[in-house]
Amino acid sequence: MAFVVFDERFKVGHPEIDRQHSELFDAVNRLHDAMIAGHGRAEVARVLVFLRNYTVHHFQTEERFMRESAYPAYARHKAIHDDLTKKVLELERELGSAGGTLSIATMNFLKDWLAHHIGGEDHLLADHLRPAR
Ligand SMILES: [Fe+2]
Ligand SMILES: [Fe+2]
Repeated sequence: MAFVVFDERFKVGHPEIDRQHSELFDAVNRLHDAMIAGHGRAEVARVLVFLRNYTVHHFQTEERFMRESAYPAYARHKAIHDDLTKKVLELERELGSAGGTLSIATMNFLKDWLAHHIGGEDHLLADHLRPAR
């Protein structure tokens, strides 16, 4: 069973943002699978690099939407993105150090972070981007 399931709860109603979130969930699942399958560190590190790159790409997309729409909470939302990017870079460094591993606690942190961020900040952003009716 997938570690995180991208179900209706996580949809914010913006097609591009929803598509990218679904990809992020896939990447988190691949990382989780590599970790629990006991794959070598090199394989786990490879999946983590993909997750980091995709996360950066996704955050850049949202931040572009925010700038283009003069989103009032840009600074707050971007600061939260920057924090997570830093955290993922730390994980990469830890994994690269001698004896470094990924833990289930780390996987739960990523899962909870995504759920919390999508349910909060990303929902607010999608509401702002939705054309007025
Ligand atoms: Fe976001
Ligand atoms: Fe997002």
